[in-house]
Amino acid sequence: NIEKATNVTFQDNHVSRTKRGKVMGQGDGDFRGCTVWFTGFSGAGKTTVSFALEQYLVTRGIPAYGLDGDNMRHGLNKNLGFSDADREENIRRVAEVSKLFADSGVIALSSFVSPFAKDRDLARKLHESSGLPFCEVFVDTPLEVCEQRDVKGLYKKARAGMIKGFTGIDSPYEKPQNPDIVLKTAEFTVEECLQQVTQYLQKKGIIP
Ligand code: PPS
Ligand code: ADP
Ligand code: MG
Repeated sequence: NIEKATNVTFQDNHVSRTKRGKVMGQGDGDFRGCTVWFTGFSGAGKTTVSFALEQYLVTRGIPAYGLDGDNMRHGLNKNLGFSDADREENIRRVAEVSKLFADSGVIALSSFVSPFAKDRDLARKLHESSGLPFCEVFVDTPLEVCEQRDVKGLYKKARAGMIKGFTGIDSPYEKPQNPDIVLKTAEFTVEECLQQVTQYLQKKGIIP
């Protein structure tokens, strides 16, 4: 079979997470690798909050990296579109990438529309089965607000029929049933939303 990986044997690295954590400047016995996963409509505020959080963490000497849908689709996932199947493959790949970042000791900040619950659940499972914390952040912004913002003019195009299968217009979004954090960006400022996430990470002992 040339299409699927067969005859492959997992090779264990020799470096422990504790040892990696030390190299990441986290002192004795600390390991901060984890994934914070932002999901929500286009225009909800995923990129804004996750990049603000990246800046907050890195400024404090905590390794973090923002993996963003728009950006991943310029590189690793440039061969994927927005059909259900392509979104599923997009999320599968970026969930694996997030896990690698987390395993390396970095706080992965993953911001993807990720409209399907089963794909987000897979991302969580991938992490938790490897002992890596996973935090789902539902960026809960009403569709009308996102459309009003129309940051990139995509809703206008979708309404005009120039984009087919746009999330919230003619493609579904399955709300998280059990998110770890809910951000109401229509009611709170970016700063307040950022604080909600940092407080959660502190409570979980991930950041000081
Ligand atoms: S997904 O559903 O998780 O695979 O999407 P993602 O990888 O996050 O990419 C979403 C960004 O692509 C732009 N875009 C679209 N979004 C939703 N539906 C359709 N059809 C679409 N076409 C292009 C848009 O800029 C999304 O970024 P955000 O930051 O959400 O606006
Ligand atoms: P997404 O990545 O989910 O598509 P963006 O971050 O690109 O969303 O856009 C969100 C827009 O909403 C930005 O213009 C941002 O300034 C605005 N905004 C207003 N309040 C908030 C908030 N509390 N959190 C995040 N974004 C907000
Ligand atoms: Mg974005």
